[in-house]
Amino acid sequence: MAVAEKTVAPEPIESAADHVHRNVSSLGESATLAIHERSATLVREGRHVYRIGFGQSPFPVPERVVEALRRHAPRKEYLPVRGLEELRAAVAEHHRQLDGIDASADGVMIGPGSKELIFLLQLIFRGQVLIPSPSWVSYAPQARILGRRPVHVPTTFEDGWKVDPERLTSACAGGAGPWLLILNYPNNPVGNTYSPAELADLAEAARRHRILILADEIYGRLHFAGGHASMARFYPEGTIVSSGLSKWCGAGGWRLGTFVFPRQLAALHEVMGAVASETFTAASAPIQLAAVEAFRGGDDLDRYLAGCRRILGALGRRSAQVLRAAGVRVHEPEGGFYIFPDFSPFAERLAARGITGSPTLCERLLADTGVATLPGLPFGRPTDELTARLCYVDFDGARALEEIARVPGNGDPGNDFLERCCGDVLRAMERVVDWLG
Ligand SMILES: Cc1ncc(COP(=O)(O)O)c(C=O)c1O
Repeated sequence: MAVAEKTVAPEPIESAADHVHRNVSSLGESATLAIHERSATLVREGRHVYRIGFGQSPFPVPERVVEALRRHAPRKEYLPVRGLEELRAAVAEHHRQLDGIDASADGVMIGPGSKELIFLLQLIFRGQVLIPSPSWVSYAPQARILGRRPVHVPTTFEDGWKVDPERLTSACAGGAGPWLLILNYPNNPVGNTYSPAELADLAEAARRHRILILADEIYGRLHFAGGHASMARFYPEGTIVSSGLSKWCGAGGWRLGTFVFPRQLAALHEVMGAVASETFTAASAPIQLAAVEAFRGGDDLDRYLAGCRRILGALGRRSAQVLRAAGVRVHEPEGGFYIFPDFSPFAERLAARGITGSPTLCERLLADTGVATLPGLPFGRPTDELTARLCYVDFDGARALEEIARVPGNGDPGNDFLERCCGDVLRAMERVVDWLG
């Protein structure tokens, strides 16, 4: 008699979710993208949303760069993995001229956005990663995807949310290294920057503890006073400078990022190239060719940038002033397009409304007023801290650039200009103030 074969029920295909790696199983969608989508849903429902949650440049890509992209659209070949030679030379020259650093084409790496390059660097780096708190939302999740536990370097409102040599040193005290510090300025989310003296002090501490620095200077050209100082001037042997087209050229969706390695870190660059060759292969050919035009610069691009800085500087300062006048703790920004208010002076009043942390703060603010912001939590702040990131970019950048060209001088364009061109951002700040009660 045939013995019935024992059958094991095959695993249902739906359980594929069980096979997700534990490093990523609890990873949600990036917080910035989630708020963008939630705001879009409210708009579809007919609500007016003040979009100060998602950090995207409001300005158009400069016309000459767009024209270059049109011209190069037929280019379809794979480019060299570290980037088109012509572009690498233009990027190096751009940094030599504007930052006074010793950049060479050989040390440049081009990628599909600096975010991808930062991820690859975290992937190939053997030691521990130091991430200031607060800092940009993606550094820490990238570390966690890779199974790393980043070490946070604390900062405080009172110290302008800045990393200083003492805090850096004590963050390293508990570990063996080697270390990689990700230092971003002008900063997302707080809008601050570092003076040459502060950078020199940090460089000294980094040298002492053999800390490599990834200087995320993607907002460098958006320093309002045009005075960005690159970390690589103070710590040339240990700094990798990160930048790209996304912020100063308004081309986030084009996906083009740049790293500049010093000669001393050529080995890291080489490994990045090897990993890139097995992953993204190369950034898109037409985009790289158009980027050559952007990095070579010219009078039109200088005028464009001067206009962007003038508008953002005035609007950022005004936004902070409106909040401060109402009693919110916030620093005036020095570059980029963010402020990071701390609503703790309203803690009691907010607690009476059931708001005791940044996620509920931002959810309720969006639901009650239509003002979309991001909570301090994904920037590495404690859940019960009443901080939020506001990006003052909800205006028509093309129109604002056209109008600023007609406002004489190069100083603050004044209230009339801000009301006319950036009224929604000012209304958003007023709504926040009214809502606080
Ligand atoms: C501080 C910071 N670094 C890096 C990036 C990534 O830029 P991209 O990947 O577009 O070059 C962003 C984008 O928001 C940012 O704010």
